Amino acid sequence: MTRIVVLISGRGSNLRAIVDAGRVQRWPAQVVAVISDRDDAAGLRFAREHGIATEVVDRARFASRAEFDAALAATVDARAPDLLLLAGFMRILDAAFVQRHAGRMLNVHPSLLPAFTGLHTHRRALDAGCKLAGATVHFVTAELDHGPIVIQAAVPVLADDTEATLAARVLAQEHVIYPLAVRWFVEGALRIDGGIVRHADGAPQWRFAGVPG
Ligand code: GRF
Repeated sequence: MTRIVVLISGRGSNLRAIVDAGRVQRWPAQVVAVISDRDDAAGLRFAREHGIATEVVDRARFASRAEFDAALAATVDARAPDLLLLAGFMRILDAAFVQRHAGRMLNVHPSLLPAFTGLHTHRRALDAGCKLAGATVHFVTAELDHGPIVIQAAVPVLADDTEATLAARVLAQEHVIYPLAVRWFVEGALRIDGGIVRHADGAPQWRFAGVPG
């Protein structure tokens, strides 16, 4: 049974997609805890309603970044995760933490990496006149929003898109590719070689999503 811990800061829609997929598809895995740096994260409520343990490590309660980092690390370690998922977690993890969980920590990012690391990805894609946008699930490394790519989904950018409409189209794909990536990890199907992730059975690590109608 793969023990999964999910770190969130807000809404938790990716958390929900992963929990739902795991239960429906009966993965040999369990989300054993959801940890948030904010006590008002909506995802905490979803977790509680689904019988998942929750913890809050509030940055405001710690005098320094180092103390916060240590408390977060201890909270995570106490759950002994086999897999750590970042799902809208808005804090930068310290290098030692990332190193300790190397090869077993995934993140979802709302762009086609390596384009648009960081924040405001949809605004920046629109401003750049991109015709495709998308999302990426990747292993986490010390460099923000870098790390070996597990799967990407591309969606069209439409002429009348706003930041909100594009974000919604991309988010729907996050909810498809993140659970799939987690499932592959749980199945032991992912190989990382020279910074490149391959699925052991050659499953397509991409997805194109058209627009209905
Ligand atoms: C998602 O767009 C994700 O790609 C980004 O933060 C957002 C989190 O959304 N890292 P949610 O909390 O999973 O709904």
